[in-house]
Amino acid sequence: MFQDILAQDAVRIQNHFDLVLGALDDLNVTRAMAYATQGGKRLRGFLVLESARLHDIDAGRAIWPATGIEALHAYSLVHDDLPCMDDDDMRRGRPTVHVKWDEGTALLTGDALQTLAFELCTRPEVGDAEVRAELALTLAKASGAQGMVLGQALDIAAETASNSLTLDEITHLQAGKTGALIEWSACAGARLAQANPEPLCRYAQALGLAFQIADDILDVEGDAEKAGKRLQKDAEAGKATFVSLLGLDAAKDRAADLVDQACAALDGYGASAETLKDAARFVIARDS
Ligand code: IPE
Ligand code: IPE
Ligand code: MG
Ligand code: MG
Ligand code: MG
Repeated sequence: MFQDILAQDAVRIQNHFDLVLGALDDLNVTRAMAYATQGGKRLRGFLVLESARLHDIDAGRAIWPATGIEALHAYSLVHDDLPCMDDDDMRRGRPTVHVKWDEGTALLTGDALQTLAFELCTRPEVGDAEVRAELALTLAKASGAQGMVLGQALDIAAETASNSLTLDEITHLQAGKTGALIEWSACAGARLAQANPEPLCRYAQALGLAFQIADDILDVEGDAEKAGKRLQKDAEAGKATFVSLLGLDAAKDRAADLVDQACAALDGYGASAETLKDAARFVIARDS
């Protein structure tokens, strides 16, 4: 059920990207934007669409921020893969943007995807001006130096730090790096409905951490073919992860506890939150 919904949402988001990106001039940067936004699980976009369904929001409104967050996520991956960051040559089973084109194109592609995300979240089709402003304000906080960029900066700094990070420090790093965008996505439906996002935020905080722990476990014991990216890189690069600190078994236990916490946060929604609970279970069982 959840897998079917995820697959349907992925198609909707791809169609929307085709519509939006198809209207741009044909340049290396716009070709690379289309390339970088193809593939992927679309988990963040799904979270927007599903939290919107939970609040009876029309899909014609929710598709805009759903596509927007996938544009922002794609930008974060294009930059994450650059030689000055993780230096990766494979993403979603294909060469990374700087390998297929060049570093300048990858930099600009990320820049343009980031601004596109804000455009998509503030388009008139999304709803009242107040709702659009709230989506843009919260997305700015989630993406920048209080959110994703903060986490990425701490991630890079940890590579060369002389001491290993504590559990609290790794939790803070990962809450920024991965958690902030996942939290924004899951709360978007409540924000579109001008409802209280608090239960969804609690769900997503636990989900985001579980998601990054699963990514770190995949790096150690995943199959690169299925994951579509190079694995077994974190330890050598000196990345600070739950796996590096706790070991594989304890990291898996921690991820399972977080999924239980995520599900419990949605109990107030009753049966209508079942798909989001399934998404939480999927996050730690995935192989890509
Ligand atoms: C990968 O994210 C980067 C992390 C934040 C761990 P995803 O695993 O969601 O990547 P795609 O979008 O499915 O390719
Ligand atoms: C990437 O984390 C997080 C962001 C892009 C914000 P990772 O560096 O662990 O992701 P992968 O393993 O390259 O997908
Ligand atoms: Mg990284
Ligand atoms: Mg990386
Ligand atoms: Mg990783």
